[in-house]
Amino acid sequence: MILLSPGPVNVSARVRAALQRPDLCHRESEFADLMQGIRRKLVQAFVPGAEADYTAVLLTGSGSAAVEAAVLSSLPNGKRALVINNGAYGERLASIVGVHRLGVAEFKLDWGTRPDPEKLRLALRQHPEVHVVAMVHHETTTGLINPVKDMAEVADSLNRVFVLDSVSGLGGEELDVAGPHLYMVAGTAHDCLQGAPGVSFVLVRKGFMERMKAYPKRSWYLHLPHYYEDAEKGSSPVTPAVQVFYAFDEALNELLEEGVPTRIQRYKNAAAMIRKKMDELEMKPVLPAELQSNSLTAYHLPDGVTYQMLHDKLKERGYVIYPGQGLLDGKIFRVANMGALTEQQIDGFLTAFQGTIRTIAAR
Ligand SMILES: Cc1ncc(COP(=O)(O)O)c(C=O)c1O
Repeated sequence: MILLSPGPVNVSARVRAALQRPDLCHRESEFADLMQGIRRKLVQAFVPGAEADYTAVLLTGSGSAAVEAAVLSSLPNGKRALVINNGAYGERLASIVGVHRLGVAEFKLDWGTRPDPEKLRLALRQHPEVHVVAMVHHETTTGLINPVKDMAEVADSLNRVFVLDSVSGLGGEELDVAGPHLYMVAGTAHDCLQGAPGVSFVLVRKGFMERMKAYPKRSWYLHLPHYYEDAEKGSSPVTPAVQVFYAFDEALNELLEEGVPTRIQRYKNAAAMIRKKMDELEMKPVLPAELQSNSLTAYHLPDGVTYQMLHDKLKERGYVIYPGQGLLDGKIFRVANMGALTEQQIDGFLTAFQGTIRTIAAR
């Protein structure tokens, strides 16, 4: 089955084979070597040139675990987080801070609208209690890329900590982590990094990790300094998903062999192929071209076509598309181009899509 979903994604045969490596106890030195290799490769891939300033902390769990761990660990007593919310994952960030009563009024925008850095400046001046600004990089709800650099620079200039959910961005989009002083970036193995689901991570500025050690522990399972201190000793406070770590390590080997810029270009090319064909078929994108990511395109469902109908007919042909969420449920469909997909596979999907749309129209 070809997955056009924004995670999990199709993985290479090499990554799948890694899932079958021999059983291993995480208290053994082989596991410590595996974990340290993954942490080193993450920093090498995403903070080139500033490797000494960042560290990576691994968590067994999905992307939300990494996002929640980053936010919960980042707040000293009495301080608050401001969430920029322009999609379902911004909304999830807002509910994470809401559940723990750590937020202030959200910076809320219509889904598909980019935030204005000057409005952030104003909001931060009005809210001295805000210590952390949290935002999504690639808002997978619509495929929108948020202006990370501009927003992070405003936060940094006002001495705030910028935390980024780049679960569906890292590996698919350009991202300068060190330049605009991103304090923490949450990511996962199973999107543009082409690993298996089950392991996620946070890239953290080392100086900030030291500061976080003095912050209150708001969750036992998701307290980042706890994982960091153990990881530095080659250990993990909980039983990690060992086989998924193997696969992630192999996926990172592939990423470093391909090169992050080449991976990004491959995704751009795949998205361009999809957009060209969809345009010929008169599908209407949800976002204008300048806001779109490299790895997902959202389209309005054509008149008379339900998501279920489109999904089921495509699945019969071996392709899995993705539905709209929340407000957009039943109104749009999404086509992601993350994962170990070849041009031929994308082409095969587009041919199947054309056939499916014609079959539905001829009913
Ligand atoms: C931007 C973003 N953040 C967070 C998540 C949550 O990740 P998970 O479903 O792995 O918990 C997703 C999932 O697609 C996402 O796209």
